[in-house]
Amino acid sequence: MEKFVMSHEFSHPPAGGHISITPTILYFGTPVALVTTLNPDRTPNISPMSSAWALSDRVVLGMSRTSMGRENAVRERELVVNFPSSDLWPRVEAIARATGRVSVPPHKAKIGYEFEPDKFARSGFTPQISETVQPPRIAECPIQFEAEVVAVHEPGADWPAGPEGRFQIIETKVTRVHAHRAIVIPGTSHIDTGKWSPLRYVFRHYFGTGPDLGRTFKSET
Ligand SMILES: Cc1cc2nc3c(=O)[nH]c(=O)nc-3n(C[C@H](O)[C@H](O)[C@H](O)COP(=O)(O)O)c2cc1C
Repeated sequence: MEKFVMSHEFSHPPAGGHISITPTILYFGTPVALVTTLNPDRTPNISPMSSAWALSDRVVLGMSRTSMGRENAVRERELVVNFPSSDLWPRVEAIARATGRVSVPPHKAKIGYEFEPDKFARSGFTPQISETVQPPRIAECPIQFEAEVVAVHEPGADWPAGPEGRFQIIETKVTRVHAHRAIVIPGTSHIDTGKWSPLRYVFRHYFGTGPDLGRTFKSET
C-alpha cells in the first residue's frame, strides 16, 4: 500500500469553503508545448501554447484563429510538438509577446505583441532536422513529437464572435517520438519521471513539477 504524503504548503484546504468566481481565463495548469510549423516562405515558426492533451496516438491542440502557427498547421498538415523542461521558461517567455504573422492582429498589437520572423533567434533555441515531417524540432526540448494533422475541428456554435474569441481544435497523429537519452530509462521506451520536469502553465504563471507523489496502477515504471 502506497503512502500519500502531501506537503503542508500544498495540502488541500478544508472542504466546504468554495466561493463562486469569474476568472478571465480557465488555464488550470497544463504543460507548455512549443509548436513548430513552416511559414509560407518555408522559414520555421515557434508557437508557445498550453491547451493540449494526448490520448492514444493523438495530440489535440487548441490554437487561436489568429495564430500563425494554427494557419501554418492547417495549411501544411504537419508540425512538431516540443516540450520544454521547466528551466527553459525564460526562453519561452522571450517569444511570448511575438507572432510570426507579419500584420499583428489589433488585439495583440494593443498589448505589445510584435512580428518576429525568427523566433529561434529571439529565444536562443536551436532548430534540429525532423525525421518524418518538414518543420524542425527544437533541439533543447527533451521531448519532441513529430505529428501530422488528421482533422481540424470547429468549436461549439455558442462561442462569441470576434478575433480574440475564435480558435480551432487541431487533431494530430504522432508520427515519431524523440526523447533525450538523459530522461529515458536505459534500454527501454520509458521516460524516467524522476528526471523529467515539464514546464507547466498555471493561471498564467510558469511552474515546474514537485516531487513524485505516487503512481497510477497502470504505471510500468
Ligand atoms: C505559456 C503560453 C501558453 C499559451 N497557450 C496558448 C494556447 O494554448 N493556444 C493558443 O492559441 N495560444 C496560446 N498562447 C499564445 C500564443 O503563443 C500567441 O498567440 C502567439 O502569438 C502565437 O504565435 P504565432 O502567431 O506565431 O503562432 C500561449 C502563450 C504562452 C506564452
